[in-house]
Amino acid sequence: MKMEWIWALCLAAAGGLLRSEYEKRHFSVEEYEIESEKIRKDRTLVFLSDLHNQEFGKGNRDLLAAIERVKPDMILVGGDMMVTKEQCRIGPALELTRALAARRPVFYGNGNHETRMKKYPERYGDLYDRYRESLERAGVCWLSDETAVWEELAITGLDLEEPYYRKLRPAVLKAEQVTAQVGDADRQRFQILLAHSPLFFSAYREWGADLTLSGHFHGGTIRLPLVGGVMTPQLQFFLPCCGGAFEEDGRRMIVSRGLGTHSIRIRFNNKPQVIVVRLKRKPIF
Ligand SMILES: [Fe+2]
Repeated sequence: MKMEWIWALCLAAAGGLLRSEYEKRHFSVEEYEIESEKIRKDRTLVFLSDLHNQEFGKGNRDLLAAIERVKPDMILVGGDMMVTKEQCRIGPALELTRALAARRPVFYGNGNHETRMKKYPERYGDLYDRYRESLERAGVCWLSDETAVWEELAITGLDLEEPYYRKLRPAVLKAEQVTAQVGDADRQRFQILLAHSPLFFSAYREWGADLTLSGHFHGGTIRLPLVGGVMTPQLQFFLPCCGGAFEEDGRRMIVSRGLGTHSIRIRFNNKPQVIVVRLKRKPIF
C-alpha cells in the first residue's frame, strides 16, 4: 500500500476517535409522540437507559438540567445504570437516580448489569440489595418483575435472565414467559413495559405492552446512514432494533441508544440519548 494511503487511513482513524470522544460527552434530547385512546390526559415521560456510570458534568448536572427543562411528569429508567464486571461501582448511578427521585416519580427496571449484581452475591456481596434499598428510600419505585399503577398508566419492569443476553445465540423469549414472570398485562390501562433488551418485541406485544421501552445495544456503536447500528455489545451486526421507534399491530417500542458505554468505548454518529415520550390523548370522534 502506498504511504499516502496509510497516512490517510491513520488520519481518518484519529479523526474518528476524536469525534467519538466528543460524542460520548454530548447527549441529545429526542422526542417521540404517541397517541392512545387509553391516555386520559397528555403526559410527558423521560426514559433513560444504559448510563454505565457516564457523567455529563459533575454529578451529572448537565443531564439533570436538560431533564428539568423538559418538565416531565415522571422518569422511567431502563437499567444498566452501572457497569458490573469484575468489580462494580454504583456511585454515579446512585447519585443521578436519587437526584431524579427528589424531583419527580421515578420507575426503575433492571438491565443485565443489575441482574448480574443480584445473581452473584459471592462476587458483589449485598450490593444489589443496598443499591435497591437506597433508591427505594429515596422514593424510587423499583420494578423487578413488578407492576406499578399510576392513574391510567400501568408500568411493568421485566427482569431478563442471562440466557436472553447471551452473545451470538441468545435464548428466545415468549409471551408466556413474560406472563409467568409479571402476570397478565393491564388491558384497561395504557401498559408500559420496561424490558431491557429490544430483541423480543413480538413477545412484549403479544403479552399486551402498548409501549415497550428498551435499550441495551448502545445504538450499535457506530451508526451509518440507511443501515443504522453496526455492532452491538452482544456481537450482532447490523441489527435493526439497535435504536429508534418501532410499531407493529398498533403497539410501539422505543429503543434508547443509551447514555454511556462500556467494553467497546466508541460512539460514532451515535450520540448518547435522552428520550422524551409525549403521551397524547387520542380524540374519540
Ligand atoms: Fe444492557
